[in-house]
Amino acid sequence: MRTPIIAGNWKMNQNPEETTAFVNAVKDQLPASDKVEAVIAAPAVDLSALLASAKGSNLKTSAENAYFEDAGAFTGETSPKVLKEMGIDYTIIGHSERRQYFHETDEDINKKAKALFNNGITPIICCGETLEQREAGETNNWVSGQVKAALEGLSADQVSSLVIAYEPIWAIGTGKTASSEQAQEVCQVIRETVKGLYNEQTAENVRIQYGGSVKPANVKELMAKPDIDGGLVGGASLDPESFLALVNYQD
Ligand code: G3H
Repeated sequence: MRTPIIAGNWKMNQNPEETTAFVNAVKDQLPASDKVEAVIAAPAVDLSALLASAKGSNLKTSAENAYFEDAGAFTGETSPKVLKEMGIDYTIIGHSERRQYFHETDEDINKKAKALFNNGITPIICCGETLEQREAGETNNWVSGQVKAALEGLSADQVSSLVIAYEPIWAIGTGKTASSEQAQEVCQVIRETVKGLYNEQTAENVRIQYGGSVKPANVKELMAKPDIDGGLVGGASLDPESFLALVNYQD
């Protein structure tokens, strides 16, 4: 049985004070983490505030990115080793915004996944197609290729424990959600890709999120699909009430 995982990705929003206020507003109303895992991915500058305020609650914590080296002359980067020392649970890697604006490659993302595992942090690996790729009928091949590249060299146990987020780029921040059928189709392709690379059990274990204009009004329908185990939520995760509605979608 896969535990559902709803993660808010705040992107470059919120400051430490807003982070603390948000966590204080939600922390007593979160589901038990074996029922639904509730995660907030915050900017690096907010992680200390996130950790301090989430302490002792059911809220899990995530960074939005990390570098693939633990330390050294890499000005402006975030060390996965330090994220672990701080107590961070997850780290998002390969978000389409990182790929597009910061030129991250599949190879970088694979190195980051390995660096996170070396430090005991669970990666949330993003993939997804552009509108042009979808219209050209390339979605399944493209996404499957991104997944293969990201997982290269990881063990079955590692892949069993990680999270893959399918985020069609045309649905991010546009208000245009993929239909639950479109989302399910690609999440199923991702699970089949994992099965082909590893085995049935690994494919059964890996958790797959859908992301792209997820909101309280559509979360239930998406989560009812057999291969969708969670949501990676941008805009709708910034408001405490909306985040609570998302993580408590089963109630
Ligand atoms: O990581 C989250 C996604 O990019 C989705 O963002 O919910 O604002 O569309 P959105």
